[in-house]
Amino acid sequence: MGSKSFHPPVRTLMGPGPSDVNPRILEAMSRPTIGHLDPAFVEMMDEMKGLLQYAFQTRNELTMPVSAPGSAGMETCFVNLVEPGDKVVVCRNGVFGMRMTENVECCGGEAILVDDEWGKPVDPARLEAALQANPDAKIVAFVHAETSTGAQSDAKTLVEIAHKHDCLTIVDAVTSLGGTPIKVDEWGIDAIYSGTQKCLSCTPGLSPVSFNAAALEKVRNRKTRVQSWFLDLNLVMGYWGSGARRAYHHTAPINALYGLHEALVLLEEEGLEASWARHARHHAALRAGFEAMGLRFIVDAAHRLPQLNTVTIPEGIDDAAVRARLLNEYNLEIGAGLGALAGKVWRVGLMGFAANQTNVLFCLQALDAILTDMSATINSGAAVKAALAAYQKA
Ligand SMILES: Cc1ncc(COP(=O)(O)O)c(C=O)c1O
Repeated sequence: MGSKSFHPPVRTLMGPGPSDVNPRILEAMSRPTIGHLDPAFVEMMDEMKGLLQYAFQTRNELTMPVSAPGSAGMETCFVNLVEPGDKVVVCRNGVFGMRMTENVECCGGEAILVDDEWGKPVDPARLEAALQANPDAKIVAFVHAETSTGAQSDAKTLVEIAHKHDCLTIVDAVTSLGGTPIKVDEWGIDAIYSGTQKCLSCTPGLSPVSFNAAALEKVRNRKTRVQSWFLDLNLVMGYWGSGARRAYHHTAPINALYGLHEALVLLEEEGLEASWARHARHHAALRAGFEAMGLRFIVDAAHRLPQLNTVTIPEGIDDAAVRARLLNEYNLEIGAGLGALAGKVWRVGLMGFAANQTNVLFCLQALDAILTDMSATINSGAAVKAALAAYQKA
């Protein structure tokens, strides 16, 4: 048929994920495939568990990557912890909180909704009120870093409130892991999931999860079977659990796991705190540039995610036309708004390997040039200077 190998264009990925992949990770993924029960592979898996424990700041024995994207990590938490009839309080302040609600319903649970405006963090007082009104609730679920808006919620406080009411917690850390502090043990998070394609700088398709003893006790003492065979932790642990004897569960995505291992080695080399600080530093410069240009952030400074910057589109400017020009003329991808924010905002990611000075200046310069060309009401030519000044101050 004359088909040829696929060679993707080389882009700069500054959207809501996937983000730029570190070349060291791509190189690691191209190493020879070995068997998923090969002793060398099993040794790598054990090391990866330790590296993931470091990334999540936990000693949880059950800390491992699910062989599927972040959505499967989300489902792993819900299908294992929610039984039919369970009341689950779901905090919704964006798209991913809405998906959590659907997960509860798929498991036959009853979702009690705590709604906050998009762009705002989850309000601890509303969670407290929902739990007082529902003393039989068993689980509280919330998104730490809402990728649809760029708002960060106070995970530590929300977990404290949930525990005061004897609830387990499910936390979405898909966008936060590696980019902003997550302290699973210190904050007492019971079940958490993340993704590889954001601040870990890896390719999409894996979902690190971690369950503490309380969450595992609930899984082990279920009255009903887990609704999913593939995600049933009782079975998955036969492969990922500790000890020399590992049973076949599914054929692990060997080369993808090499990639995640390399991503975690990179994180360890840089240091978690240094990675958080790097995201904050480049966010400060990008913010200075956007503000100098005249673009407004939709999230208050106190709750803004450094790795996901959501700014308003200037009056009269066609969102899709700007993003298409960025892609065609600059090979630069930024994200569109979702739901009610579609056409009103851009979401600019600074995640993992993509959080660097070159990207910040490139994005500001490209956006400035296109918006100026479209006669948008911005302060042309001010953004890059402001970002450079912010770097000098840092
Ligand atoms: C907060 C959040 N949760 C869950 C997901 C789903 O992850 P995936 O697309 O890898 O399935 C995403 C993806 O963007 C996300 O941002």
